Amino acid sequence: MPEISHKPVNPTVPGDTTIQASGDDSLDNMVAVTFLPEGKVVQFEFGTMPYDHHGKPMSILDVAENYGVFLDHACGGVCACTTCHIWVKEGDGLSEAEDDEIDRLDMAADQQLNSRLGCQAVITKPGNYVVEIPSWNRNYTSEGKPLTLADK
Ligand code: FES
Repeated sequence: MPEISHKPVNPTVPGDTTIQASGDDSLDNMVAVTFLPEGKVVQFEFGTMPYDHHGKPMSILDVAENYGVFLDHACGGVCACTTCHIWVKEGDGLSEAEDDEIDRLDMAADQQLNSRLGCQAVITKPGNYVVEIPSWNRNYTSEGKPLTLADK
């Protein structure tokens, strides 16, 4: 059973004018992001997640940082490396890749048709999103922090 993480958030996204829904209507405004292969699922109401200053606001990297999912980001989320490379398994509400992201992805290992940079792929609407962190990245970590040689 996937671990589901709920984190209380405040609508602190600059410029956010989202009106918070209430009752059952709020379910229509929910975002669920599943991080594979761990299977960790994080859920939050669209427009309420605070910006964690990693990658673009509401990017997959921003979600990962908010919820303690390790996704490497050597350049700090400015599209200048490929360490945040992910494969998108589900999520038609992600932003389209811009030219600089596409150019950068050409340098990524294990590039696939569904490859994105986690810092640039922005969630634009409520819904379900499933992303996989490639093995060369995920094997580097355990429980959200880099492994030391003694851990391997
Ligand atoms: Fe460097 Fe995304 S963190 S490109």
